[in-house]
Amino acid sequence: MDKIRIVGGNELKGTIPISGAKNAALPLMIASLLTEDKLILDNVPRLADVALLQRILGNHGVDITTNGKRNGDDPNAGQTLEIDARVIVDTTAPYDLVSRMRASFWVVGPLLARMGEARVSLPGGCAIGTRPVDFHLDALRALGADLEIDAGYVRARAPKGLKGARIVFPKVSVGATHTALMAATLADGETVIENAAREPEVTDLAECLMKMGAQISGAGTSTIYIQGVPRLRGARHAVLPDRIETGTYAMATAMTGGDVLLAGARPDLLESTIDILRQAGVEVDATNEGIRVRRNGAGILPVEVSTAPHPGFPTDLQAQLMALMTKAKGRSRITETIFENRFMHVQELARLGAKIQLDGDTATIEGAERLTGAPVMATDLRASVSLVIAGLAAEGETLVQRVYHLDRGFERLEEKLSRCGAEIERISG
Ligand code: EPZ
Repeated sequence: MDKIRIVGGNELKGTIPISGAKNAALPLMIASLLTEDKLILDNVPRLADVALLQRILGNHGVDITTNGKRNGDDPNAGQTLEIDARVIVDTTAPYDLVSRMRASFWVVGPLLARMGEARVSLPGGCAIGTRPVDFHLDALRALGADLEIDAGYVRARAPKGLKGARIVFPKVSVGATHTALMAATLADGETVIENAAREPEVTDLAECLMKMGAQISGAGTSTIYIQGVPRLRGARHAVLPDRIETGTYAMATAMTGGDVLLAGARPDLLESTIDILRQAGVEVDATNEGIRVRRNGAGILPVEVSTAPHPGFPTDLQAQLMALMTKAKGRSRITETIFENRFMHVQELARLGAKIQLDGDTATIEGAERLTGAPVMATDLRASVSLVIAGLAAEGETLVQRVYHLDRGFERLEEKLSRCGAEIERISG
């Protein structure tokens, strides 16, 4: 298994190009199931999760071609996928694929809406919490689907099509909003989704669906209105920049001291994160090319933060912020409100010398003068990258194991960081 070796202590200086967002690319690819025409997606990141979803969609009969790079193309540009779901050969999404990536469960909405049936494995356990899918199922039931759970599979049927309905989510869920939104585009009549997720990835999906002919208003607010249409057509859409990758490299820059331009990043996608970084004493400026992050000489100030649905501080940056706070001048507090078990990085950060006390959903971090390199491993994507950030500022060598977690969500991580002066390399084996 590959490892990442980091020798800490170098400031990051230069430019890091920001890739297309994983968490937008996945639902956009799944939306291709809603139409017989071709959906062309630009700026798709080259990630293990994208490749796995290509396989999962392939299993349903979807044809995907990837445009190769041509001479003169920007080496940092994402890939273009041409997705053709004209013929659906199988409406089953099997356990061995769905259990490897939870987001693949989201095929249930579009398959049901277009084909009148879907049989999709329940996703099973997850390292960051129990993560049930009850809101997805309740939304589909509200739209008139007949659901049965049998042998670990959800069997959904709507032979006469779905019917518009009022869906009120008891708690904000990104995935369940995607499911309800996609399913409702082809339902008969109007659907209203209340307490909808406001994440930029939901808005990106809605914008693509509208290009495909869907009638949607209110995406990006808590109430989304969808007027169902009989069919959707093909479209071309570029995936929005990854706000979590942006926030991660902003924290890495703050952690090491330095000066980095996050090229192509959009400040409007991560206002709460920028606020917190400024409170921590980091200089963050919007420029024409992206976001410039600097911490020249000044120390890191402690902060108090709770994760929350968008526009609050994202749970997907909680571990990275915790890594940053291990070097703050004083005591920070971070509360995780979205997932009950998303603290797997705490013990690993402690191996590097971090002083973190966990009490229920709150971590108290006593900033330390120095971290020291050590072998570490993590159980999920964002936890792994928090260890990379800590390793960049630790004295000596840090070896991050289970790199496959990083490959799920960070495109060319070692290359992007080493170009800015980090001593970081992948060791194959
Ligand atoms: C999305 O997951 C993201 N994944 C996650 O990013 C992200 O952490 C999460 O949203 C929150 O922002 C993708 O976009 C692929 P939720 P999702 O449904 O949609 C509870 C990463 O690292 N809930 O918004 O699965 C749930 O348990 C990943 O890139 C139910 O109770 O998350 C959680 O407490 C990790 N029942 C809360 O809602 C349900 O049916 C929010 O989860 C659904 C969710």
